Order: sequence, then C-alpha cells, then structure tokens
Amino acid sequence: MIIFLIGYMGSGKSTVGEKLATALNYKYIDLDDFLQIKEELAIKELFDTKGEIYFRKSENKHLQELLQLESTVVSLGGGTPCYGNNMDSINSTANAKSVYLKASIPTLVDRLKTEKNERPLISHLQSDAGMTEFIGKHLFERSFFYNQAHLTIAVDEKSIDTIVDEIMLKLF
Ligand code: S3P
Repeated sequence: MIIFLIGYMGSGKSTVGEKLATALNYKYIDLDDFLQIKEELAIKELFDTKGEIYFRKSENKHLQELLQLESTVVSLGGGTPCYGNNMDSINSTANAKSVYLKASIPTLVDRLKTEKNERPLISHLQSDAGMTEFIGKHLFERSFFYNQAHLTIAVDEKSIDTIVDEIMLKLF
C-alpha cells in the first residue's frame, strides 16, 4: 500500500507521516523535500525564481513518479491535491489510500503564525486576524479536494501517537 497524507499547511502531515512510516516499517517521502532535491532549490526560491505555475507542474510530475511506489507513506504539500489531476490520480491508483488530516482554522493559525516564513503563500500575512481570514477562505476552497480523501482524521488536540494509531486502525 502507498499512503498519501493530505491537508492544509500546518496540519501535521510531515510529523505524522514520519511516525506512521516508522510504525508500519514503510519508507517515508515528503513531496516538498523530494521536489527540492530534484529541482535543487528550496520551495521559497522555487516560487520566487520560477513562479507558482512552474512549482505546480513540478509537483504534478513528481507525484506521478511516487504513485508507482509500494509500502511507502508520502506527505504531500498542502496544495498538491488541489491542482491538475492530482487527487484523481491518487484515488484511482489501486494500492493508494489518501488520508486527510483535518485541523480547524484556529489550530492552523496558531501553528502557522510561528512558521510562516518558509511558506510563500502565507508569508505576507501580518496579523492573526489576517491569517484567520486568509486561511478560512483558502481552506474552504481546498476542502472540496481534501474531502475526496478515503479517510478523514480530525487532528485538533490529539497527540501524534493518537493520530498514527487512528490511521492504522482505520486503514488495516
Ligand atoms: C503549499 C504548501 C507547502 C508547499 C508550498 C505550497 C500550499 O507544503 O508545498 O509552500 O499550496 O499549501 P506544506 O503543506 O508541507 O507546508
């Protein structure tokens, strides 16, 4: 099986993904890291020098490569399921499962305000109110795609271990 973790920036995809892979004895890949290695540029530099459209094409190309894998947990970028045919490709791959880590807007704002600088889409937001408004609208638009996941796990106020256990219980 290949498990794709999806969800908004700050929902815990990377932290949960690493622990889940260890618990299952699977390989772990973070699509953002994979892409940065292939492109030899940090995400922020990629956005700054080549633009978001280039980034989305690269994301799509590298996701297609990852769909061939087995026994792997992949954390996607927050926007990956929402562009091109990405969500359809995942959901139509026989041995792939998609898991949406669903966090509330206050949880996301709280987590992202201290780590927004490496994230080009939110680095311009100054106040908590501005972040709340932006994330609220953005999450609403993206939920159409996130809600197509095979499995949704509410993550607010749960420990990483609880989330990992819940995913394993529901997938196997
Ligand atoms: C993005 C999320 C980021 C990264 C890029 C764009 C998005 O990944 O792919 O900055 O569109 O939500 P994380 O969700 O891992 O922060």
